[in-house]
Amino acid sequence: MAEAAILGFLQNNESIPDSGKFAAELNLDHEEVKNVIKSLQGFRYIEAKELKRETLVLTDEGKKYAAEGSPEFHFFSAVPEEGSISKDDLEKKLDASVFKIGSTQAAKKKWVAMGKQVSRKVQHVEDKVKESLLLIQQGLELDQESLNSLKTRKLIVTQGWTGYSDVKKGPSYAPKRKIFATDLTRENLQNWKEMEFKEYNFNAKGQPLDAGHLHPLLKVRKQFKDIFCQMGFEEMPTNNFVESSFWNFDALFQPQQHPARDSHDTFFLKAPSTTRELPEDYVERVKQVHESGGYGSRGYNYDWKREEANKNLLRTHTTAVSSRMLYALAKGPFTPKKYFSIDRVFRNEAVDRTHLAEFHQIEGLICDRGLTLGDLIGVLQAFFSRLGMPKLRFKPAYNPYTEPSMEIFSYHEGLEKWVEIGNSGMFRPEMLQPMGLPEDVRVIAWGLSLERPTMILYGIDNIRDLFGHKVDLDLIKRNPICRVGIE
Ligand code: PHE
Repeated sequence: MAEAAILGFLQNNESIPDSGKFAAELNLDHEEVKNVIKSLQGFRYIEAKELKRETLVLTDEGKKYAAEGSPEFHFFSAVPEEGSISKDDLEKKLDASVFKIGSTQAAKKKWVAMGKQVSRKVQHVEDKVKESLLLIQQGLELDQESLNSLKTRKLIVTQGWTGYSDVKKGPSYAPKRKIFATDLTRENLQNWKEMEFKEYNFNAKGQPLDAGHLHPLLKVRKQFKDIFCQMGFEEMPTNNFVESSFWNFDALFQPQQHPARDSHDTFFLKAPSTTRELPEDYVERVKQVHESGGYGSRGYNYDWKREEANKNLLRTHTTAVSSRMLYALAKGPFTPKKYFSIDRVFRNEAVDRTHLAEFHQIEGLICDRGLTLGDLIGVLQAFFSRLGMPKLRFKPAYNPYTEPSMEIFSYHEGLEKWVEIGNSGMFRPEMLQPMGLPEDVRVIAWGLSLERPTMILYGIDNIRDLFGHKVDLDLIKRNPICRVGIE
């Protein structure tokens, strides 16, 4: 519509001097006219200059007075030609705002004498305010004094206006826009002599491919895997989400009354609710160490219950996998090992912006003769340096299965503070000895979540944007394939 009008007009006329007036004359929407001019200019059908000016527009109050007349005029009209009327009567007769504004303005203009009684001072008045507002509405000029008074009464405001001037034919002008073929289809190629093809744009980025996308967690997992592999670690099999309480807790010397075993923290299974088999002789040694100790320990001194150990659950940490692996290792002639795993764990927690009921745990352990706390610190230092976190601090902590235990803190350059990044320790003899590992074998181990470093690396502050049913799919699709450096 607007396009035909502009191209058609330029066929017989030199130029369109003002897009606003052009639109008004032809009853076209000026925004549409502007868009068409911009597009035709891009294809060089036409040339145009941008035009900026300030226009006056009526406020809502101004529009009301333009349509109905000013309050002072209504006020004046309500005062009788002869004699007078009481102020109270006038107030009853008129709208509250008309009375309030009208009385002040009419008095200021000396149209009326105001007292308890109100009377006319002149016989005839003209509603100049209404007339001026109508002129402005029609886009006509007005003297400065009237403009100023309308502005102070907030009946009009100035508004920026943009349009085009000097709209003329351009080098590619045609009375009608040509449609170019944009695709090399079979039909287009067969009729190529009659067709006009759009010029090839070698700078265009091309259509984004609708392909699969790697989740940030998968990318960071790969990064951790690579670090473990470079350091000579083997991956542990973590394919059993369902585990017995025995491997998840008892084998780790966690007493059966430990609060973490409570259903507040653990998802227990309804069916099958118990495990089918456990290695009986080892179970017996675990029972012993819990009840009365051994291997230099006094134990916990309570009645260890087999039923409690049999209960199936969703594993609460991948340390359950470590305990199975160490037990398996203890069966053969001893060989030192470096194991790692990265997989899902489950905790019955209230979900919030930093907690989910399921998340991923990264676990590393080294099993060798004569390892010390110094080895643990050194390995952690090497491990986290490879991640770009060389500044570490350790804080004494408690785990039922490690002694000593240390929380790991890393200095976050962006946040300018120390943040907790993991937990670590040396597995207790009460855990290792019943498995049958030689007495001088020590195991150093650490664990951390995969979500936390991923959130830090990708600048995500709500875990639910990363994982779960509220995940932001756009973030998954648009996140960079690789990141350079670590902020
Ligand atoms: N299992 C611990 C946790 O859930 C992590 C850990 C692993 C701590 C190994 C010490 C040694 O946080």
